[in-house]
Amino acid sequence: MYETTRIMLLSDIHVCHQSWYGTTNEEQLEDLMKAVTAAKGKNDYALSLVLGDVSLDFWGWHQGGSYLWEPKVSRTAEFVERYMPSLPQPSYIIPGNHEQYGHNDWRRITGGERQQCVTAGGALFILLDSFSGDLDPSENSDGTYVPVDVAYIRRAMADKPELLVFLCAHYFDFALESAEFKALLAEEQRIKALFMGHDHLTNVSFTPEDAGRLPILRTGHFSYSCDDTDYATAYRGWRELLLHPDGSFESYYFIPRQYIPARDTYTGEHIRDEYTYRSR
Ligand SMILES: [Fe+2]
Repeated sequence: MYETTRIMLLSDIHVCHQSWYGTTNEEQLEDLMKAVTAAKGKNDYALSLVLGDVSLDFWGWHQGGSYLWEPKVSRTAEFVERYMPSLPQPSYIIPGNHEQYGHNDWRRITGGERQQCVTAGGALFILLDSFSGDLDPSENSDGTYVPVDVAYIRRAMADKPELLVFLCAHYFDFALESAEFKALLAEEQRIKALFMGHDHLTNVSFTPEDAGRLPILRTGHFSYSCDDTDYATAYRGWRELLLHPDGSFESYYFIPRQYIPARDTYTGEHIRDEYTYRSR
């Protein structure tokens, strides 16, 4: 049997030319590296998964995306080369709506595919590309959602019939998702949870289509909050998943020690119970 397996899931880190909360982008990334190094010193991680928006490379706002500047600057490449090696290894990355690289550029920059599968701790992680529309754009834009590839999920599950399944994507937009995907979620008891980022939130909600069977575990952000009405979501952090030998699992959002200059807010490291999910 397996020991408890711990996995780190991150998203929305946004290496770019913007800064938030009075911290420069460089300082924000240094904070992430310090927090990850401390976490690795305390816990053994089996792997890390980066669920997109490590950049704003094709950004449709302000100064535009740096990959359409002349000369091109790929902050995704900077993330992969400079920061990703410090995450728990092995580490896998899928694109968000701000990494609209075509398949060749994505492979060249990350060494992986836009969607891929990873196994650990008796579980299969299917990493999906839900912003696969309008790749290699010639003008700045913020990505095009395309319903997830259900045939890919079915094939991946058939390849590993003995494993629990976790679906991961930069985002699952249930208003735009296919009836086929919703039916799969309702039927497939091996699927245990969905992980996603994009809205920079940290909470746990439930899939609407199957009366809330599946938890949607949000991976938060290490940049800025999208919900300033909830003061605590301003804190940068990541989600952890613990897979236990009996097949149960738990997941919480980890907030490392941090200071947010613009709010003059300091916090010690903590976990909020309301953002924690435990399977039965
Ligand atoms: Fe996003």
